[in-house]
Amino acid sequence: MKKPVFGSGWKMFLTDKEAMNYAQRLKENIPGEQDAELFVLPSFTAVERVTAILAGTDINVGVQNMCWEEKGAFTGEVSVLSLKEMAVKYVEIGHSERRTLFGETDRTVNLKIGKAMEHGLVPIFCMGEELQEKEKNLAKELLSIEIKNALHGIPYADAKKIIYAYEPVWAIGMEDSAQPDYAQEILGFIRQLLAQIYGRSEGTEFTVVYGGSVSLKNVEKLISQPDIDGVFVGRASLSIESYMEMLDIIKDSWSKKVKKQRGDDEN
Ligand code: 13P
Repeated sequence: MKKPVFGSGWKMFLTDKEAMNYAQRLKENIPGEQDAELFVLPSFTAVERVTAILAGTDINVGVQNMCWEEKGAFTGEVSVLSLKEMAVKYVEIGHSERRTLFGETDRTVNLKIGKAMEHGLVPIFCMGEELQEKEKNLAKELLSIEIKNALHGIPYADAKKIIYAYEPVWAIGMEDSAQPDYAQEILGFIRQLLAQIYGRSEGTEFTVVYGGSVSLKNVEKLISQPDIDGVFVGRASLSIESYMEMLDIIKDSWSKKVKKQRGDDEN
């Protein structure tokens, strides 16, 4: 059975010392098995130490980027081979900050997804429209292009392992998230599109999550939407109190949704 996803992207908000302190607090507060798929994405420099601290918990560790090549003259890049040596499980690919500030393209996103899958890492593939595209009603068109480009040559067996993170660029780093019904509409569309690309019927096997100013005030509504399998959170996941409270809301809201869906199926 699916568990809700709760991903926490630390971006470049924490120094290594701060990251380790935070990981220690997570370990103390979340010791046992969890009814949720949890991951945190620290900066590269903190990954090994955060992984060591979180060993034995249900919180997995990932990175925020990687190179599409394994070795060679790629100054400043990080190889998937090194990530494997560090036992990293997840790799974020195509975040809007990497696309807009660091020149990530659909082509490199596609190459990175392929390379990550070749080595057994789980890509968190980020996508989302800009405000102008939303205003021109082009979000779905843009997302179709981003998704088809990113998945070019990726077989179904791999595609169903990816975490698809819909993060509208206009909702990242803001006061509030996208409206839950808008996020639902787009994530439902993404699920259908994935099903269509891979010739499946409903696409329920794909994991599609929402990111962009998720907070304590909106997380319950977001998780209760039928097509939202989880959330990917930046700032609001960086305080232990907020993280813990959010985790409780996610688990609670998810179990209510599952019960409701079962009830609907039986009727
Ligand atoms: P915020 O939650 O800070 O808006 O960041 C979202 C995000 O970019 C997660 O990848």
